[in-house]
Amino acid sequence: MKMKKAIIIGATSGIGKSLAELLLHEGFEVGVTGRREELFQSIKIQETSRIVFKKMDVQDLSTLEAICNELVSQMGGLDLLIISAGIGEENKNLNFDVEHSVIKTNIQGFTCIADWAVRYFKEQGYGHLVNISSIAGIRGNGIAPSYNATKAYQINYLEGLRINVKEYGSSITITDVRPGFVDTAMAKGEGLFWVAPVQKAAEQIFEAIKEKKQVLYITKRWKLIALLLRIIPFSILKRI
Ligand SMILES: NC(=O)c1ccc[n+]([C@@H]2O[C@H](COP(=O)([O-])OP(=O)(O)OC[C@H]3O[C@@H](n4cnc5c(N)ncnc54)[C@H](OP(=O)(O)O)[C@@H]3O)[C@@H](O)[C@H]2O)c1
Repeated sequence: MKMKKAIIIGATSGIGKSLAELLLHEGFEVGVTGRREELFQSIKIQETSRIVFKKMDVQDLSTLEAICNELVSQMGGLDLLIISAGIGEENKNLNFDVEHSVIKTNIQGFTCIADWAVRYFKEQGYGHLVNISSIAGIRGNGIAPSYNATKAYQINYLEGLRINVKEYGSSITITDVRPGFVDTAMAKGEGLFWVAPVQKAAEQIFEAIKEKKQVLYITKRWKLIALLLRIIPFSILKRI
């Protein structure tokens, strides 16, 4: 059987790192990226010949396509690209530098890499793009407005990409992963509930990849919260 090749953008910690370990375990050849090169060493690797790391800052837009191209030529192809790089900051005082940084990562970096991947998959006639958005993208948030708004952008953009590639049928898949809370550095603060262990999140994402799902909620029960979020009136939302 042909060995599958995957790139994970943002795999130095959290969901991306756990996915890298799982894909390696499943026999994939994996290209991983992130800014913190030292953390790459902590990925549990049995066979170092099947993993390649490239330092990447997704805010540095002019470098992204070249790094993706380098990874693909080093790996000799690409079947799957997962974008797990993302940030969110509490910013009640609306410091624009904070909002701008979130926009650069979650919108500009995301779009540049997603577009590169879709162009690549169209050229070869098949492929699978996965992005980790969030339940947060469904409604606005007064404490971290840019986080929820950029996740709303991702959800909408992925739907657009799915329409963009419709003539490829099931040969090109776009999967939108919408977690509630996953136990990583990003899930900070009080009042967290239904927090999924990161390994469980990675396993559910891998199942969704195999099933070529378009949308995945992590965990499943968060689909219920998503439904509620969509229908609750603003007068209630502002009090949550
Ligand atoms: N954890 C949750 O509860 C939760 C819920 C919903 C959605 N999500 C989403 O899941 C995704 C993964 O987050 P996580 O929970 O796994 O958090 P995490 O542990 O903080 O992982 C974030 C990853 O993104 C990378 N990254 C961040 N900024 C980057 C940049 N400028 N350039 C390159 N890589 C960058 C980080 O690598 P470096 O720092 O090394 O660059 C790291 O590998 C995010 O998009 C997040 O919004 C998480």
